[in-house]
Amino acid sequence: MELPRDAKRAKGWFVWTSVVMIVVFLVLTVQSYYYVTRNEPKVTDAVDAGKRVFQDNNCMDCHTILGDGAYYAADLTKVIHTRGEGFVRAVLKNPPDITRELWPGKYKRIMPDLHLTDQNIKDLIAFLSWIGKVDTNGWPPGSEVLSSENESKTMPEGSISPVSMINKLKCGACHTIKAQGLNTIGAIGPDLSNESARNRGVNWLVRQIGNPSSIPDSEVATGYESKRMLMPAFKNQLTDDQLKSLATFINNLKEEK
Ligand code: HEC
Ligand code: HEC
Repeated sequence: MELPRDAKRAKGWFVWTSVVMIVVFLVLTVQSYYYVTRNEPKVTDAVDAGKRVFQDNNCMDCHTILGDGAYYAADLTKVIHTRGEGFVRAVLKNPPDITRELWPGKYKRIMPDLHLTDQNIKDLIAFLSWIGKVDTNGWPPGSEVLSSENESKTMPEGSISPVSMINKLKCGACHTIKAQGLNTIGAIGPDLSNESARNRGVNWLVRQIGNPSSIPDSEVATGYESKRMLMPAFKNQLTDDQLKSLATFINNLKEEK
């Protein structure tokens, strides 16, 4: 049967619009596929293992990642970036103590001790670092996207002020420093506001900051002996000159009255 003219026209529209839309769809699919695979951080075995630990321990009953989960506790999408790896390791290793000290009076809720093994923690950090590198277009607010150049050396070569180093390396997540315009309230390590009074000297501080495990037990600040493993070694993140200038700055810290 011959179709009426209008119906023929409608059919033509239908067919050609469908063809155009299918082509547009295919082009966008291929383009997004290449965009994602080009920018996607690599999933290693550790990342995969970390995801399992994350799921086995129901972290999402309390936390969110990538906008999914519960709002009882902090968003963990960029936690490695905003808090630093050492801090996250410290919280996962010894949660009750540390969280009570960390958010004094602010939060009555605490992070439970999930009895994670060192391997679990290593894997979780790999997983959270991976999540942190996913381009979330600035989500959650306040955490800018990590660029992959920053991976090995946190600090650019060359001279950089000790205050910027302290901010970049997140010393303040663990240390209270109220001097020289700094105003941090970390409570995992000793208060450094008046470090000059400890008479440590620049060389000692270079060792402490570069590689804390090189300091003998007998020299650790009183009360912090059991927390020795919590401070990360920073020697790979700083050049020798930067480390020395940071140590000199810390050595001179004096509480401002
Ligand atoms: C029962 C609830 C609960 C579970 C389950 C839980 N957490 Fe927490 N977590 C908390 C609370 C509460 C805090 C401290 C307050 C806050 O961050 O809001 C916290 C803090 C943290 C922090 C520090 C965040 C920051 O920016 O200060 C990290 C990292 C963290 N948790 C990781 C995990 C991981 C990984 C898991 C799973 C292995 C997990 N948590 C399971 C409740 C929980
Ligand atoms: C994850 C937590 C954490 C981070 C991050 C951290 N520290 Fe520490 N720091 C500790 C702990 C815990 C101790 C006490 C145990 C020890 O001395 O190793 C400590 C001890 C110290 C001491 C020794 C003070 C003394 O005289 O006994 C200095 C100095 C110090 N940190 C400087 C820094 C600087 C500078 C940074 C940033 C580049 C930094 N820390 C980052 C946890 C941390």
